[in-house]
Amino acid sequence: MTSYRIVGGKRLQGDVNISGSKNAVLGILAAAMMLDGPCKIENVPDINDVHAMLEICETIGAQITPCGDGVYEIDPTNINTYEATHPKVKNIRASYYLLGALLTRFKKATMFMPGGCNFGTRPIDLHLKGFRKMGAQGTRATDIRDGIIRIVANELNGAHIFLDVVSVGATINLMLAATKANGLTVIENAAKEPHIVDVANFLNAMGANIKGAGTDTIRIQGVPVLPGGYSYSVIPDQIEAGTYMIAAAVTRGDVTIHNLIPKHMEPLTVKMLEMGFDIEQGDDWIRVSIDEDTELEPTNFKTRPYPGFPTDLQPQATVLLCLAHGMSQMHENVWDNRFQYVPELQSMGASISVMERIALIHGPVQFSGARVTALDLRAGAAMVLAGLAAEGTTTITFANRIERGYEKIVEKLRGIGAEIEHIEEDEEHVVPVDDE
Ligand code: UD1
Repeated sequence: MTSYRIVGGKRLQGDVNISGSKNAVLGILAAAMMLDGPCKIENVPDINDVHAMLEICETIGAQITPCGDGVYEIDPTNINTYEATHPKVKNIRASYYLLGALLTRFKKATMFMPGGCNFGTRPIDLHLKGFRKMGAQGTRATDIRDGIIRIVANELNGAHIFLDVVSVGATINLMLAATKANGLTVIENAAKEPHIVDVANFLNAMGANIKGAGTDTIRIQGVPVLPGGYSYSVIPDQIEAGTYMIAAAVTRGDVTIHNLIPKHMEPLTVKMLEMGFDIEQGDDWIRVSIDEDTELEPTNFKTRPYPGFPTDLQPQATVLLCLAHGMSQMHENVWDNRFQYVPELQSMGASISVMERIALIHGPVQFSGARVTALDLRAGAAMVLAGLAAEGTTTITFANRIERGYEKIVEKLRGIGAEIEHIEEDEEHVVPVDDE
C-alpha cells in the first residue's frame, strides 16, 4: 500500500505547473474511440485514471502509441468490439462514456455498470433516457442484468432532450451519441463544466458539428464521418489548480500556479479574496499569498454545477475553512454523501459538525499530525492539505487513490517546499471506496 508521510508546518513558496484535466481527457479518450481516423492528444496527465482508460481502450482494439511528454497517438480504426467488459470499467466512473462512443460506432454497446458510490447515489438514468430518446433499446433499469448494460439501436436519431438534473456525465455521453446521429440533437439544461467544452472542442476539431457547449443548450448536428487527423491539447485541470491554490493558502505561503485558466478558478478565487488572501493573476497563472498579520475571515461555500463552486474542491476548501476565525458553512448540493472524510479531519483536530448536506466548521484550529486514510481521490487531497498545515507528522494511507487524479503530487509539492514522501506499508483493512 502506498502511503504519504508529511512533516507539516512548512510555508510553501515558488512556482508549480498544472497538468491536463482528468475529467476532460477521460471524455476525450472515449470520444477518440468514435473517430474514423487517428488523432494525437497532447497534455494528457500521467495519472492512474488515464492509465486505466487507455488500457480499456486498448482492450477494445484501439492502437495507442505514447510519444512522450503527455502526447499520445490514438488510432481507433481497428476497434473490433462493442463490448467494454474489462474489469477496470467497474473502477473508473468515466468509463460510462464508452456507452455513447460504442453506440455511435456500432449501434450497440455492452458494458459493466460503472462503479462509484462513495459520495452518494450515482445513477445513470439520464444517460439511458437520452439514448432511448435517440432510438436505443435496452435503456430501462429493468434491462440491466448482472450489472451489465446492453444497448442496441437500429438507427440513432437526433432528439430534443431535456435533462431534469444538470449532469456532467449525461451531457457528455449524449453529446457523443448525437455526434454521428441522423439530424439535429438539442440538449437542454446541459451541464456547462469546462471539460464539456473541451470534449466538444476536441470533437469539432475532428469533424463534428457541436454548438453551444458551455451554455445550457447544446445543439449537435449529426455528421456521417469524423475524419480525425488532428492534434488536440487538453485544457488544464481546474481541480488540481484549485488544490494548489489551497495548498498555498493553508500554509500561508506565496505560490504562483502556472498553466491554468483563471476564469475557471473564479468560484474559488472570489472566496479566497473574501477570506483575506491576496490573489494576483495573469493570462495563465494565479499567485496566492497573504500578509503576515491577516486573520482569515470565515465564509460559506455552496457547491453547484459550473460556474458554481465545484464539488470536487469541497473537501479541500473545508480544510481551508478550518483555519478561519469563526464559524463557516460548507453546503454540498451535488452529492448526498460527500462528508465521509470529516472524521479523518477531526482526528487531526478539526471542529466540524455535519447535518446532512451542511458542514458547520468552527475555526481556527491548529491541525496536528495523525494517521489518516485517503477515503477517495479528493478526500485524500484534503488530507494532504491538512497534513501540510499540521504541526508534526501525518501519514496518509491508501494514497494511491490520490494518484488517480493528481500527476506527480509528491514531486510538485516538494518543488514548492513541502516535506512529503511516498512510503510503502503493509495492507490494512479500510472501507473500500470507489472513484469519481
Ligand atoms: C462528474 C465528475 C465528478 C464530479 C461530478 C459533479 C467525471 C468523471 N466525474 O461526475 O468528479 O463530482 O461530475 O461535478 O467527470 N444524476 C442523476 N442521474 C444521472 C446522472 C447524474 O440523477 O443519470 C445526478 C447525480 O446523482 C448527482 C448529479 O446528477 O446528484 C450530478 O452528477 P453528474 O454531474 O452526472 O456527475 P458525474 O458525471 O458522475
